[in-house]
Amino acid sequence: MNLKKSLATIPIFQQVGTVADQLNMETYLVGGYVRDLLLDRPSKDIDFVCIGDGIKLAKAVSAALPERPPVAVFKNFGTAMIKVGDWEVEFVGARKESYQRHSRKPQVEAGTLQEDQERRDFTINTLGISINEANYGELLDPFDGVKDLKRKIIRTPADPELTFSDDPLRMMRAIRFAAQLKFDIAPDTFEGILKNADRLSIISGERIIDELNKIILTEKPSYGFKLLFVSGLLEHFFPEMVALQGVDSVGDKSHKDNFYHTLQVLDNVSTRTDSLWLRWAAIMHDIAKPATKRFNQKVGWTFHGHEDKGARMTPGIFRRLKLPMDERMKYVQKLVKLHLRPIALVNDKVTDAALRRLLFEAGDDIDDLMQLCRADVTSKNDHKVKRFLANFDKVEKKLQEVEAKDQVRNFQPPVSGDEIMAIFGLKPSRVVGDLKEEIKEAILEGQIQNNKSEALELMYRLAAKKGIEKKTNH
Ligand code: CTP
Repeated sequence: MNLKKSLATIPIFQQVGTVADQLNMETYLVGGYVRDLLLDRPSKDIDFVCIGDGIKLAKAVSAALPERPPVAVFKNFGTAMIKVGDWEVEFVGARKESYQRHSRKPQVEAGTLQEDQERRDFTINTLGISINEANYGELLDPFDGVKDLKRKIIRTPADPELTFSDDPLRMMRAIRFAAQLKFDIAPDTFEGILKNADRLSIISGERIIDELNKIILTEKPSYGFKLLFVSGLLEHFFPEMVALQGVDSVGDKSHKDNFYHTLQVLDNVSTRTDSLWLRWAAIMHDIAKPATKRFNQKVGWTFHGHEDKGARMTPGIFRRLKLPMDERMKYVQKLVKLHLRPIALVNDKVTDAALRRLLFEAGDDIDDLMQLCRADVTSKNDHKVKRFLANFDKVEKKLQEVEAKDQVRNFQPPVSGDEIMAIFGLKPSRVVGDLKEEIKEAILEGQIQNNKSEALELMYRLAAKKGIEKKTNH
């Protein structure tokens, strides 16, 4: 790869190089940007390391640019950032870390480029490219990062013990990069993770979930999850998922391994969607299987009610994992709760009422629910898979027919609470809610059509039974 040519496509490299030369500062493009450049992946973060004061360089670069972008200075870290077009450009002085015998806190002091490279997480992230005119475009790769990129290996530049104890989040990052890039983790690096897995406890939940979500958004998330599982990291923050693993047998009756089943469902759903939350629904759909597992001599293993219990477990798990507690959690909870319902609708004798109820409960998420159900078919028997999927086609057709007829997917009460109150001269009260509920039930059950006149007629009948009279205007 001709680095000079690649760099020429973005003017900022040349511009920073010129300013660095004026300040007489050795400056390098480093880290993720170089890695992604060599891998031909798009990247929006550009990091420069200079031998000297990074903040001074950032200010000088800003002053030299026609648009004079503001400089955000992070004094504690000695870094500064400017935004140039879509790019976030960061500047920092090269540093080394030294450990005092009596303290675990590193002392950060100015260092050479190589010292700076050595304290980074993985060899593929240590690469530097000079941007000073004298050696513009020269690659500095003292830890064989390019070789590891070619061999597809995640490896720490220093002793893994040191790299991971410096920052235990790097254990999550190792797996995240392996998952994103489809790389392997070098054996001694993996050994380092196994030894230090407990140290993940000092990392904040927010940072862990950031990495986990990146793993979940990879093309084949099962790979990252398997690494999280065997490395012992998953146990630290998501024990409910680890509990899915394993097979119990009584006599010749055993159940499937729900951990690997869940990963298969997650991979299946991921071939069809990039939605993080539909992927989370796949992760959570069987989460209550261990808690509901029973053995019955006649039928073997059962997991009755795991969908309801799983839905009840969802808020607690989301809260602990620092996932959002808003409508995204409710969406996952809803899909977990409903994930068995479409299967129950396969039967020919199923009533329109049952179809309407599912449409009403799933609302606009019905299509996502059907995707989850299809992904949940993980049998190895092709005939079975075909049959199950054909059954879902049937259910979907029936749902479409009922929706076309009754429009309950986005159910709006045909008579509002305000109208009920106005007609009968009622104040907000329980009876108003009861009337609304009974009208909705009658529509879902098919006793009346979903329209205003039938709803009003029913409302008068129900009200009469309750002894409520229409307000008369004197
Ligand atoms: N880095 C590190 N240890 C960390 C985080 C970051 O050594 N815990 C170093 C790596 O050299 C990394 C650089 O800082 O390349 C920038 O970090 P960051 O922006 O978090 O990651 P990128 O490598 O750019 O990758 P991504 O944007 O995919 O997160």
